[in-house]
Amino acid sequence: MKDIYILGIETSCDETSCSIVKNGKEEINTVILSQVDIHMLYGGVVPEIASRNHVKDIVFVIEKCLKDSGLSMKDIDAIAVTYGPGLIGSLLVGVEAAKTVAYIFNKPLVPVHHIRGHIYANSVGKEMDFPLLALIISGGHTELLYMKDHFDYKLIGSTLDDAVGECYDKVARVMGIPYPGGPMIDELAHQGNDAYHLPIPLDDDSFNFSFSGLKSAVINLAHNIEQRGEELVKEDLACSFQNVVIASLASKTMRAMKQYNINNLILAGGVSANKGIREKFSDLSVENGFNFSYPDIKYCTDNATMIAAAGYYLFINGYVSSIEIDANSSAKFV
Ligand code: KG4
Ligand code: ZN
Repeated sequence: MKDIYILGIETSCDETSCSIVKNGKEEINTVILSQVDIHMLYGGVVPEIASRNHVKDIVFVIEKCLKDSGLSMKDIDAIAVTYGPGLIGSLLVGVEAAKTVAYIFNKPLVPVHHIRGHIYANSVGKEMDFPLLALIISGGHTELLYMKDHFDYKLIGSTLDDAVGECYDKVARVMGIPYPGGPMIDELAHQGNDAYHLPIPLDDDSFNFSFSGLKSAVINLAHNIEQRGEELVKEDLACSFQNVVIASLASKTMRAMKQYNINNLILAGGVSANKGIREKFSDLSVENGFNFSYPDIKYCTDNATMIAAAGYYLFINGYVSSIEIDANSSAKFV
């Protein structure tokens, strides 16, 4: 069978990325320009600044990716691009670039939902076995998705308020840790003790999550400690906070695995880089005898490799679009 090469483009937030992936599995080349240093100055992503930087960088990123891959546009079978959800100004840059490349080189265009991309980070260099449960944990999403197959899935739970990554970043901010604070909290958590009492959020029979109460509890705790003139032990707060997050994610996910009789669990999204969360589910998979998989660390946060990988399965199943696609900042996956 002929090899299929997909050129993927991702610009939904503050990473400008292009990647070429062979047969949905093999990364040929990827370029990612991160704007994290720029947005760090503001404590979070500033949409207008993000889109301006995408405009500045997108042509360079696509050209460099293609040039360093050793391939030419003749070898590329289709252009995959994140159409949503995300920041509208950022998405528009990637979508317009993809449309332009598709038009000039007469290539099919494959619109990819950002969450589908995060899920297919699990198919780069390995297989995804169905049926599976995907725990999607990122800066914008916290979802439990039951996938019978590539195109047959249902949402069984989601956050009622903040996403887990958003909660990490806000808690980090209170602790004076620069954006994005998730990785640093993860580091500190491994150096501290579970010394602060924090409530387990939405400890109920549903598969939904809630993180805004936990965020407020951490903020109140930090302020109370400050007002009493006591010292806040950051390592201990990070550890206590992370343990509550893990307990909440693990209890809902394990119940869903049992109720839906699923033997394969995957993590997806930026927060799946978290060492504590990976360790917990690895332990649970051994205890309970299910298969557990998570993306290689470099495919956890936003990147175009995952978009090209997801684009491959869409492309070979005929999910090809006309040049008229639009960016959609609030696109729904299910
Ligand atoms: O998937 P992603 O790049 O962007 C969205 O699609 O939202 O995820 C970014 C999020 C940020 O909130 C960041 O703090 C979090 O992923 N993150 C982590 C870790 N690494 C990245 N959160 C906790 N622990 C980590 N090790
Ligand atoms: Zn993402």
